Parts: sequence; structure tokens; C-alpha cells
Amino acid sequence: MNITRYPPTQNQSLRAWSAADEYILNKLSEMEPSGKTVAICNDRFGYIGCHLNEMNSYSIVDYKSQETSLRLNLQNNGLKLNPERLLNPLTPVPEKVDIGIIHIPKSIDLFRFYLQYISRSLADDGVVICGFMTRHFSPKLLTIAEEYFEDVEQSLAWKKSRVLLLKGKRAEPDTELMTSFSYTFREGTVQDLKQYAGVFSSANIDYGTQFLLENLVVHKDENKVLDLASGNGVIARAIQLEYPHTEVHLMDDSYLAVMSSRLNLETENSHFHWSDSLDEIGDVQFDLVVSNPPFHFEHEVNSEVSIDLFREVAGKLKPGGRFFCVANKHLGYIASLKKFFTNTSIVAENKKFILYESRKGGV
Ligand SMILES: C[S@@+](CC[C@H](N)C(=O)[O-])C[C@H]1O[C@@H](n2cnc3c(N)ncnc32)[C@H](O)[C@@H]1O
Repeated sequence: MNITRYPPTQNQSLRAWSAADEYILNKLSEMEPSGKTVAICNDRFGYIGCHLNEMNSYSIVDYKSQETSLRLNLQNNGLKLNPERLLNPLTPVPEKVDIGIIHIPKSIDLFRFYLQYISRSLADDGVVICGFMTRHFSPKLLTIAEEYFEDVEQSLAWKKSRVLLLKGKRAEPDTELMTSFSYTFREGTVQDLKQYAGVFSSANIDYGTQFLLENLVVHKDENKVLDLASGNGVIARAIQLEYPHTEVHLMDDSYLAVMSSRLNLETENSHFHWSDSLDEIGDVQFDLVVSNPPFHFEHEVNSEVSIDLFREVAGKLKPGGRFFCVANKHLGYIASLKKFFTNTSIVAENKKFILYESRKGGV
């Protein structure tokens, strides 16, 4: 099968699957899976989903880009997607699952979330196969797996990967999967910001985001504002509190992030977009786009996605519109910003972070 990454990358060392995914499929084939119902979590580029497409398999998709990747890979291999087999992580599998599959995510909380998600639909004699690269092992994985299953068996290493085989489903532990932290906004409101597992910066506000918010000024005539890569929506919420008449839009690739932000904002005058591309959110043009853009994807560091988003922002700003963005200094985004915008200046910087303001048009 020919499996590629979406979004594509120039970095030849980044692959569309790992030995852990191959190991999962090897273990599955030992279980005579034909006729069984399978649920797959965190299959980033659709490697496992494509291989199991002919089976009764469900793909649980958090990232919109993950859905696109699966679609493209199926198409490229002459396979058809059954849309009923694509589920978001807040929609339960509509039938009993015999075999659960989890490519273990970087976030331990998200691993727990997927274990709970699968356990809820798993048949009593069901099995869960969890794959990971050995270098990402943490003893916490075993502790959490044991909260949900009586029998946790760790395989031998194969090509620097391992699998956990989980059997004997326990009664669901009484664990709160949504976290929250209290945050005092600059205009004085104190709010508990809520978020689902795995959403960026779960225990407190990110330092970069805090730096951005300390320096953010929205001008009187800036009525349509986008929080790009919005996570739990803290930036959009700050704007909403200080400038209540602003129409705020939020866009994030992660479904769990978008659904978290829905809990943190007033929904009137707010628009939530589950998307990885501004080209997909319709015909809207913005006065201001604000962002703490992504550069970590699971265990990978990759700034190509952000640079692509910068190009898209330039196409979505009204003439004279502004793009206000924070980044770690070492990423050196200035050259890319200068390529896409007419004027780019540094608004503030500290030891670690830098704030850029870019404008479209000669204002
Ligand atoms: C650095 S976090 C910022 C989150 C939030 N704005 C904050 O400051 O706490 C980056 C976010 O980008 C999202 N993301 C990754 N790729 C994306 C893409 N192509 N389009 C939109 N969001 C993306 C991630 O899901 C994550 O929520």
C-alpha cells in the first residue's frame, strides 16, 4: 500500500507511519480479526485505517488533517471511505467493539481518554492493542492501562517499538477526563478554562500566549477577528471580554480543542471552525488574525504547517488588516512573514518569545 502524509512535508526523515503501527497490524493478524469490529484511535496519517478499511473498522479522528490524510490515502490506493466509519472522539462507537487499537499519543491524558473511549464500547471479552516506539515509553502508560484492564501484557521490542495487549475490562474508573484551570484575564474576569484531554496547555496558560495577551491591542475598527490555532480559545475569550462587540472566529485542527473552546466562550458572535486550512472556512475576511501557531506535532517538531498558515492568513486579511503572532525566538519566522506580508515588525520580545505584527497592504 502507498501511504503518504497530509499535509505533505519537505522533511525526508518524517514518515507516514512507524514500526509501532506495523507491530500493531502484526499483532492484530495473530487474532484472526476477520468478521470482528475494530476501533482505531490516533492513526495520524491513516496507515492502520487504510490497511483495515475492508474490515468492519471505525477510525476515531481528532484532527481534521487526519481525516483528510485518511481520505487521500484510501483514494490513492483505490479504496472507498465509508463516512459512517469516521467518528470524532466525543461520539461513541455505535456497536460493540471486539478489538480496540491505540497508537499511543504523546499526551498521557489523551491516552487515558482513548482507553476510556474504547472501553465504553468494548465487548467483555474484547482486546485493546496499543503501540508505541520504545523511546517514548513511560511507566505511567502501564499504570493507566491497569486502571482500565486486569491483564496488561507488554510485548518484546520489535524494530524499536512495542505493543501492550490489554484484556479483562474493569469497571470504568471514576476519573475526570476534562481538566480546567483558573485564569485572570487582563480586564479582570477570573474564569475556569476547561479543556478535553490532549488539548494544548492543559494545566495553565502557555507563556507565549500570556506574552501575546499582555501586548495585544485590538483597534476600534477591527470588528472581525480570528484566533488561529485556537486551542482552548483563551486568546479569543480575552478579545471577547475586552471588546464584546467583536465578531470572533476560532479555528483549530483538533476537534477536542474546538469543542473545548466552545465551553469557554460566549457563543453569541463566536464562530467555531474545525479545520486545518483557512481555505476551508468560507468566504470571510478578517481585520485581525491573532495566533500562537503550532510547531510541535506529537513527538515531531515541524514549522512547515505554521508557514503554510501564514500564507493562508495573507489571503484572508482585508486590505490593511493585521496578523499578530507570537513564536519561540529560535523558529525565526520573520523571513516567512516578510515573504507573505507587506510590512512585518517586531512588537515585543523577551528571552524566549517574540511578537510579530504583519500587515497586508501599504498601511
Ligand atoms: C501552540 S497551540 C496554541 C493554542 C491556543 N491558541 C493557546 O494559545 O493556548 C497550537 C494549536 O494549533 C493547533 N493546530 C495544529 N495544526 C493546525 C492547523 N493546520 N490549523 C489549525 N490549528 C492547528 C493545535 O491543535 C493546537 O491547538
